[in-house]
Amino acid sequence: MQVTVSGRAREQELRRAASIAELPGFEFRAREQVDWTAQVLQVSRLGLSLKTADRNYRWHPGLLHTRVEAGWAHPLVRAMALRPGDRVLDCTLGLGTDASFLALLTGAPVIGVEVHTGLAMMAQEGLRNTGRAVRVVNADAHTFLAGLPDRSFDIVWGDPMFPAGAAVTHSLDLVRLVGSHAPLGPRWLEQALRVARHRVVMRDVAGGTLLERLSPDDILRTPRPRPRYGIWCCRAAGTSL
Ligand SMILES: C[S@@+](CC[C@H](N)C(=O)[O-])C[C@H]1O[C@@H](n2cnc3c(N)ncnc32)[C@H](O)[C@@H]1O
Repeated sequence: MQVTVSGRAREQELRRAASIAELPGFEFRAREQVDWTAQVLQVSRLGLSLKTADRNYRWHPGLLHTRVEAGWAHPLVRAMALRPGDRVLDCTLGLGTDASFLALLTGAPVIGVEVHTGLAMMAQEGLRNTGRAVRVVNADAHTFLAGLPDRSFDIVWGDPMFPAGAAVTHSLDLVRLVGSHAPLGPRWLEQALRVARHRVVMRDVAGGTLLERLSPDDILRTPRPRPRYGIWCCRAAGTSL
């Protein structure tokens, strides 16, 4: 991806763009060399933005306000049987709406793994500015999980991208544009169950088939067109539904 700076960038933005350009998959372009018809990560005084031919995307909290309004009654939280202090590993961070919400409820830091480097950087910057206790890791969740000790998190959470055509909120436009659309499958689940002490939870679109293929212990259904939550209990931890 191209990296550039805004027209009124200072030395510090230039330095930041140059250091991003050292990461694999990024290349620095002076503004006059940018191909503005392709995706560009831009560093400005306001922070990072991702520009396309017709839009300028910035980090935003997404539908965090609706989650916060629902609080402990939110289906995601019920599916997790979340408790104050629980340590949550979010394997599909995106821009961090869920991670931010979960950190707020538990009062404990959430680790958020995001495979797309640009999204991970934008999430890290946005979440830092809101003061949320989310530690962002730029990695593939499979690789990250494989390096973790057994039973090292209370909850492991996965929210893979819904299939094209599913009703989704515009707040996910940027994530859908650049993020990974690969589903989470048995390989992810096996590692997630090893790492979780309490529960593994995965979101699926209403009417989807992803969950059935992974045989969850239970599915928490919400009124259509809202998503469903697959629940796997870690019985070794002495918990049951
Ligand atoms: C539907 S979005 C998640 C939205 C997120 N739950 C939120 O609250 O904003 C899925 C995200 O997971 C990322 N992703 C998909 N597969 C991944 C993997 N194996 N490892 C890390 N991130 C992954 C995608 O790049 C995308 O940003």
